[in-house]
Amino acid sequence: MRLDILTCLPELFDGPMNQSIVRRSMDKGLVEIEIHNIRDYSNHKQKSVDDYAFGGGAGMVLTIEPIDNCITALRKKRNYDEVIYLTPDGKTLNQGIANGLSLKQNMILLCGHYKGVDQRVRDHLVTREISIGDYVLSGGELAAMVLADALIRLVPGVLNDESSALTDSFQDNLLAPPVYSRPAEYKGWKVPDILLSGHEARIEAWRHDQSVELTKKKRPDLLDE
Ligand code: ADE
Repeated sequence: MRLDILTCLPELFDGPMNQSIVRRSMDKGLVEIEIHNIRDYSNHKQKSVDDYAFGGGAGMVLTIEPIDNCITALRKKRNYDEVIYLTPDGKTLNQGIANGLSLKQNMILLCGHYKGVDQRVRDHLVTREISIGDYVLSGGELAAMVLADALIRLVPGVLNDESSALTDSFQDNLLAPPVYSRPAEYKGWKVPDILLSGHEARIEAWRHDQSVELTKKKRPDLLDE
């Protein structure tokens, strides 16, 4: 999988995209991430990327030209399966959407800022719009990182234990069962006996029951889907 992320704030990606699973996936050659500063594609003397909104109103708008220049330059190098704009009015991200996108090869993630982007970017250059929830962030960068993380961990080979992405909460629309580790008893708080029994089939059945019960209690809406 290759992700090209377009942003006016590339330095925001330094930490999160260089740690842990994301870092390892890149080191293993399974995932490539390139961050592009939209400013580098501006034809203006001052390298500006935003301007006032036609018709007036508060807030600056990201202009189409640098974004189009950047996307055009990338498209000359390879084909892209999706150009995704992160925006609070996009389709809300869930595990099903992440699963579908994790099968794609090359994607561009466009981070908005200020009041948004020129509508023509959305109409003509973007193929999908995704939100990470019903709240407004100050830019699409954190949303792009959330989406990238959710996708990368689904790429085969990224997680050490192949089955572990499949047993996550939300796969099968069920929440994950509780997990325990040593010691078997701590301050009198005990690990359920079944998990110490060594009986694999019964443990599996117990975990499934726990998943169903937890989902009924905490997220009954998932069972209706
Ligand atoms: N940009 C600002 N808020 C956002 C959100 N909730 N999801 C995706 N992109 C955003």
